[in-house]
Amino acid sequence: MESVRGRRIVLGVSGGIAAYKSVEVCRRLVDAGAHVSTILTEDAHRFIGPVTLSALSSEPVHTSLWDDTSPIPHTRLGQNADLIVVAPATARVLAAYAMGLSHDLLIATLIATRAQVVVCPAMHTEMWEHPSVQDNVALLRSRGVIVVEPQSGRLAGGDVGTGRLADVDSILNAIDNALSGRTRDLEGLSVVVSAGGTREPIDAVRVLANRSSGKQGYAIAEQALARGAQVTLVTTVDRVTLPGITRVDVETAQQMFDAMTAQAEHADIVVMSAAVADFRPFVAAAGKIKKEGGVPEIVLEPTPDILAALGASKRKGQTLVGFAAETSNLVDNAKGKLARKNLDLIVANDVSAEGVGFSHDTNAVTILAADGSCRQVGLSSKHAIATEVLDSVVKVRSAP
Ligand code: CTP
Repeated sequence: MESVRGRRIVLGVSGGIAAYKSVEVCRRLVDAGAHVSTILTEDAHRFIGPVTLSALSSEPVHTSLWDDTSPIPHTRLGQNADLIVVAPATARVLAAYAMGLSHDLLIATLIATRAQVVVCPAMHTEMWEHPSVQDNVALLRSRGVIVVEPQSGRLAGGDVGTGRLADVDSILNAIDNALSGRTRDLEGLSVVVSAGGTREPIDAVRVLANRSSGKQGYAIAEQALARGAQVTLVTTVDRVTLPGITRVDVETAQQMFDAMTAQAEHADIVVMSAAVADFRPFVAAAGKIKKEGGVPEIVLEPTPDILAALGASKRKGQTLVGFAAETSNLVDNAKGKLARKNLDLIVANDVSAEGVGFSHDTNAVTILAADGSCRQVGLSSKHAIATEVLDSVVKVRSAP
């Protein structure tokens, strides 16, 4: 989030149940060194108090075209902003912004700015899918507005579906991308990412598994989507998947091998962040192994090394990224894998360190490139790590 330090960001909050999440967006932006001005619409007051945002942002909250000390607050806020983010953006705000209907301070500010705008819609599924909302979103997109798609999950009133405000990390990521000019640097490229840990059947009910949560792979897929790529995610874990990502569900190393080798044939960038079992039971019992048979002897056999196969069949112009989960000799082991598997980049992490790797929301990595360059990224969110990995990919691809 270096990109937000010292930048002026206007955070617009409109009237939806997700308004409470804007508090976290505000706090994280201020913590990262941004000057944050907040605008609360009249409806937003029903969900969140102005005192909360005034206390957390860099100046008292703005609520009206008329109550401000400045006679023209919308032009001041709009002209001074480096970026405006609206989170949550209701169907009404999207419609008013698309139409240029400047009936309140937030819309007037959006229309009075030349800064990059990020909108984060949140509403019930039926509303989000309504053609009027979809048309307004498409129109805003065509004008260069960045739309952070809502996610699927629990909505107000207990309903479940698409329309939930994107999580705070995704919103901050979109802001970071917009401010650092990375916005659409993967436009026109196809990216395939693997995520999660494979599960190898022992019998009809038991599996050999590992602790991978898939969070890092999902973060890379989301980040690549935000940067304009066509994204396919081959995954063993069922997490909320952003609309726009093509998801292929797999379970075993063999299924992941089949999916990844097929997908990689057409991909420009392949990122193998899944934790693949190195061994699987030689035979999986058809039924459930019963206790009365005594302690079973489970004979293992190696699984195919997917990344090595992808490296062997790598096309000219294709960028291949592997991961290395290590508990010792991090850099040497990772360098060995980079060379053996014919990779362009390897992202190494010491999974024995505090807060790093499997199932955490954070990670710390060393990114090694085939040209010998090395970049260390300290403990950061998995979204921030995803940004660094894709920045390294862009760098490798632009090298002569
Ligand atoms: N990998 C793979 N297929 C496998 C095993 C690993 O594609 N059967 C990939 C992982 O997705 C990762 C990279 O290879 O991108 C390195 O995985 P890692 O488990 O760190 O190393 P291994 O090659 O399995 O070697 P070891 O377990 O001995 O460290």
